[in-house]
Amino acid sequence: MTVSSLPVIDFGAYLSSDSSAEERKAVAYAIDKACSQHGIFYLVNHGVPQELCDKVRALGRNFFQLSMEEKRKYGADSLVRGYWSNSDTSQTNQTHVETIVFHPPVHCYDNGLSPDADPASASARLPTAPDALGEQGSWPSEEFRALTEEYTNHILQLNKHVVDSIADSLELADASRNRLQKAVSYVGFNGYNVLAQTGVGKGEISLAAHADTGCLTFLNQDSDSVSLQIQDRDGMWHGVPPIPGAFVVNVGSAFNRLTGGRYIDVQHRVVHCSEKSRVCVVVFVTPPFDGCIDPLPEFVTASEDSISHTPKLYGDLHLEHEDVYNEVEVVALSNPATSHV
Ligand SMILES: [Fe+2]
Repeated sequence: MTVSSLPVIDFGAYLSSDSSAEERKAVAYAIDKACSQHGIFYLVNHGVPQELCDKVRALGRNFFQLSMEEKRKYGADSLVRGYWSNSDTSQTNQTHVETIVFHPPVHCYDNGLSPDADPASASARLPTAPDALGEQGSWPSEEFRALTEEYTNHILQLNKHVVDSIADSLELADASRNRLQKAVSYVGFNGYNVLAQTGVGKGEISLAAHADTGCLTFLNQDSDSVSLQIQDRDGMWHGVPPIPGAFVVNVGSAFNRLTGGRYIDVQHRVVHCSEKSRVCVVVFVTPPFDGCIDPLPEFVTASEDSISHTPKLYGDLHLEHEDVYNEVEVVALSNPATSHV
């Protein structure tokens, strides 16, 4: 079963200086509706050059075609950085899903502890060396780094416009708009290999169900197979067919919190049943580690406003999520059909 009713949003009208205020408003409301009803939508006419989108996927494809010995040089001691695959390759030297992730140093987020932070909390782990996420991974090549950074910069610009449109539709005050616009990103390349070579049974889960942690995720994927699935409110899973040239954009848990639950942090997973390999490049746009992810004032009720509490920081959420992944990793070692990222 696939989702045929997911919104396809033409962002060109919002980006064009020739558009009327009404035309821009219509796009903004469509995005707000998609985020609050589905937590996921397609974005077309987004302004990111198609050639660059294709090139960056080819970069991932070429990397995954390297020998396992070569790819393992880019592993790190972190589950959220560097190269990782979820199969025991000692026997077959084949993986069914593999990934390489580049997360910038969290120090660059200027994430000092607040004076009243609980030293036992996850946020107290932030200023550790090298940083809270473990060691840095290295780039496979200078070309890889340059192209990935060029691509990520385009996505961050696009994110800025999408968030602007959301702030317009929600009629947010400047302070709230600025909170949403304070964003950073990290990027992951995922490879799902040819089923026949992996020993994975048809229909088995390639990437376990999860919600992303940040605000918005921009997925640039091959268009050969329907592998991504989302869960609806009744718990049913539906395939999300790729649309060539479109980004799949989904809401993460930070945005769900910031909007007081208005935006759905959609549960998704990957079931790759194709005889063709699949590569996708995923840019996760998140608040800074020291950014507060309590609901924006526009989404706080009067009774909630009277309750004092310690602000929840994005870094806490991210590290809690990483802890969950650590538990998943234990399962993954005994069950190759379980994955993370
Ligand atoms: Fe995800």
